[in-house]
Amino acid sequence: MKFDSDVLVIGSGIAGLSYALKAARFGTVHVVTKNRQDEGATRYAQGGIASVFSKSDSFASHINDTEVAGAGLCHRNIVELTVQEGPARVQELVDLGVAFDKDTTSGEYDLTIEGGHEHRRVFHSRDFTGEAIETALVAAVSKHPNIRLFENHAAVDLLTNVRPQKLRRSDGMRCQGAYVLNSTSGAIHVFSARVTVLATGGAGKVYLYTSNPDVATGDGIAMAYRAGARVANLEFMQFHPTCMYHPRAKSFLISEALRGEGGELIDASGAAFMQKYHSMGSCAPRDIVARAIDSEIKRQGADCVYLDITPKRSGHTAAALKERFPNIYAKCREYGIDLTTEPIPVVPAAHYMCGGVLTDEHGESTIENLFAIGETACTGLHGANRLASNSLLEGAVFAHRAALRTEERLRRMKPKLDLKIYEALPDWDSGKAVPMEERINIAHTWRELRTTMWNYVGIVRTNRRLEKARTRLDYISHEVQEYYWSYLLNPELIELRNLVTVADLIVRCALARKESRGLHANLDTPYLDDTYFKRDTIV
Ligand code: FAD
Ligand code: SIN
Repeated sequence: MKFDSDVLVIGSGIAGLSYALKAARFGTVHVVTKNRQDEGATRYAQGGIASVFSKSDSFASHINDTEVAGAGLCHRNIVELTVQEGPARVQELVDLGVAFDKDTTSGEYDLTIEGGHEHRRVFHSRDFTGEAIETALVAAVSKHPNIRLFENHAAVDLLTNVRPQKLRRSDGMRCQGAYVLNSTSGAIHVFSARVTVLATGGAGKVYLYTSNPDVATGDGIAMAYRAGARVANLEFMQFHPTCMYHPRAKSFLISEALRGEGGELIDASGAAFMQKYHSMGSCAPRDIVARAIDSEIKRQGADCVYLDITPKRSGHTAAALKERFPNIYAKCREYGIDLTTEPIPVVPAAHYMCGGVLTDEHGESTIENLFAIGETACTGLHGANRLASNSLLEGAVFAHRAALRTEERLRRMKPKLDLKIYEALPDWDSGKAVPMEERINIAHTWRELRTTMWNYVGIVRTNRRLEKARTRLDYISHEVQEYYWSYLLNPELIELRNLVTVADLIVRCALARKESRGLHANLDTPYLDDTYFKRDTIV
């Protein structure tokens, strides 16, 4: 079966749905999403969305904070436009019905602060910000007559006019849609489109411990790379400093907003340790806090450190803490921890991919008619380390910019000629593939891959560890290629194949950067080398 639309959007988080709503004003839109429509990192965002609003704040300050966190690699023009367009995008979310918290007395927005921010500029809905945004977007999309959303549909590979293996560089390439697996029926369909948008989110599942949901398997990055697009800066995986340490908690995030509101990182003896590492203490940029915790854990031989937001430490009453952080409070209670009376055990975990599909200021990749927006893209905003709460912002800003560019593109295309090309797109051919008899093999290989990445490509790296990872990944990669050619595709195999590609790209980028900068810390090259490495790693 073939499906055709003006625009194909892959992914239904803040980036994909914001874009779909805008593109639906001038074209037909298909959104495919591999799980439920509201599943993705957006739904779990806690802290909020950063944007300048308060009179005491300024664009210059937000730009400066973003650049300081980004350790010299942010693209100034991208930072400026993102920060300056932020307030309009936040207003659009409010217009869609997102109720950001307001101060009950003044009626002003109750802005919070997180690591690396000089001012209070983070809009939030208590600690359910992502859920509030995703719910509003899903509601708007479901009412739109020009949008058709397909749940449980996983994109497998992009369709282009040139076979990627024949042309490694993406010059002259055009994207024409994607092959998509209907996970319920097992059929693989052609989804043709004049413009295709990757909004597939991050790749945290490449690591053993991650704050990310299961769908974060780097599919967009892997598909774009296989198709011949440029990808960049994959060595910069951000580790969030504070995920709950509990055998059953699956790396539940303890928002940075707790530190913004007075929470302090302490060791098992109760001693606060962050001032030793940075003048901003527990509110220092994320890369610094994550490395400090890693170092304390290793030095003390401890399993974790603790985040103390009890009234004595933070100055907030227990009632105020429960009111402000209901989600985190409830989750902690589930695991027997009362954050109003005791510190929360925390460890770092893989959280956010700063690199991704290389795009320009309109979200366009190096393949014509292929856009990448949200976490799957590398726009130049985050540089070597993302500033907290700049991700939802980037998703909204680049969805808007990509939609504007798409409108121009569609106006210039010749529909008749297009139609011929799209009708000729080949159906998926499964060759001699057979159903996989032991799916458990996929789980085993996946675990091996994620453990390799955690052990050898983690918060602190060495050349030797990276080389070890490369050797192991080579082996895993061969095994997965064999599965791919031998067995009929299923969702787990698609994800495993993408994770191997992304893991390999992370290691290649990390080996190429012979310095330490932002999120990439290598003990063999512990210095900053602006002469050779103040640039993106592009592969
Ligand atoms: P996502 O919201 O992750 O959506 C990706 C979509 O793509 C999903 O629908 C997924 O199912 C779909 N998909 C993936 N692969 C395929 C495929 N092959 N075929 C079809 N569909 C596919 N950022 C902030 O700015 N502020 C915060 O407070 C904040 N808190 C966070 C808390 C947590 C726990 C996490 C994990 C992240 C947080 N982040 C935060 C980061 C932020 O949430 C994400 O970067 C952002 O939501 C990404 O949005 P997105 O639209 O790019 O991707
Ligand atoms: C958090 O709430 O700590 C996450 C914020 C972010 O990732 O930007």
